[in-house]
Amino acid sequence: MEQIEQARKALTERFAELDVKSNILKAKELRELYGEIPKLPVEQRSAFGQAVNVLKNELETMVAAAEAAVESDSLSPVDVTAPFDINATRPKLLPTEQGTTHPLTQEIERVVEIFGRMGFVAEESREIDDQYHMFESLNFPKGHPARDDYDTFMTTQADTDGDPYVAPAHTSTMQNRILKKYYANLENDEAIAVVVPDRVFRNEDLDARHEHTFYQVEGVYVAKGVHAGMLVATLQKFLEEYYDRKLKVRVNPFYFPFTEPSFEFALECPFCESGCSVCSQSKWIELLGCGMIHPNVLKAAGIDPNVYTGFAFGCGIDRLVMMKHNIEDIRHFESAKLDFLRQF
Ligand code: PHE
Repeated sequence: MEQIEQARKALTERFAELDVKSNILKAKELRELYGEIPKLPVEQRSAFGQAVNVLKNELETMVAAAEAAVESDSLSPVDVTAPFDINATRPKLLPTEQGTTHPLTQEIERVVEIFGRMGFVAEESREIDDQYHMFESLNFPKGHPARDDYDTFMTTQADTDGDPYVAPAHTSTMQNRILKKYYANLENDEAIAVVVPDRVFRNEDLDARHEHTFYQVEGVYVAKGVHAGMLVATLQKFLEEYYDRKLKVRVNPFYFPFTEPSFEFALECPFCESGCSVCSQSKWIELLGCGMIHPNVLKAAGIDPNVYTGFAFGCGIDRLVMMKHNIEDIRHFESAKLDFLRQF
């Protein structure tokens, strides 16, 4: 037994210096101890053998622990504050069966599907834009007071005009690009018919109805002979499909620099006949802004307003979804609260 104690001491010391830790299991001391067993008197063999096995187990445990430590040391360091694509390995993502589509995504898909059946294609907006697209191309010259209605977040970096970039306050920021991109449709005697459902940003005082980040769907339709009746009919049809019932609609005159005439569009409350909390007892819900595209906006995109006319609309998606699902506070959408999200 004395012999075993000596071997344990020697092997533990050597273990610390070994590069390949598992080599300790091949050490000659261990082999010699096993070689001793048959030489011992029969009655001592079993106790001695067991003690040697204990030592061997101890060494195996030390090897396993050392190997595990080496493995974790060799993982590349992770910057937990960085977006994950900067780090070498992708984190394991939650399996999809544990998640659901966000309620806004579900409804955006539905909106795009309805407009798709009416012949509109969908385009994405962007989360940073220049002031030419957000304002100038939409007939808001520099210093125009209506810019104040679209107060949003800005970068410190300036664009080629020396203006800061902005987080777009409306999806109308895409109108000029859409008109240019689909110009060929007009030459082929087809309409430009595009919807842009995407995220927009405003510098708002936050409350149950106002959020700094929300969603709009923009609609742009241009062809020969387009008139305001087509605008009203398109929106009415869309809303009737969306709420799955016949609805009355109403337009009131309004002002936007990029449409002329401009309208505020309201629909009959889909939830009541005599006033309820959704329509603030008024039976009407002011839903969106719209109008006939201003000739200057068509010109800025190289379209001759004497030949072509068009309509545009911009509708808040959060509001549509809040009404549909009776959601009382717009801030739930961006809150990432699972209690809220799991209901959809
Ligand atoms: N962009 C406008 C807004 O957000 C809505 C709008 C879009 C009005 C298109 C007219 C035409 O307030």
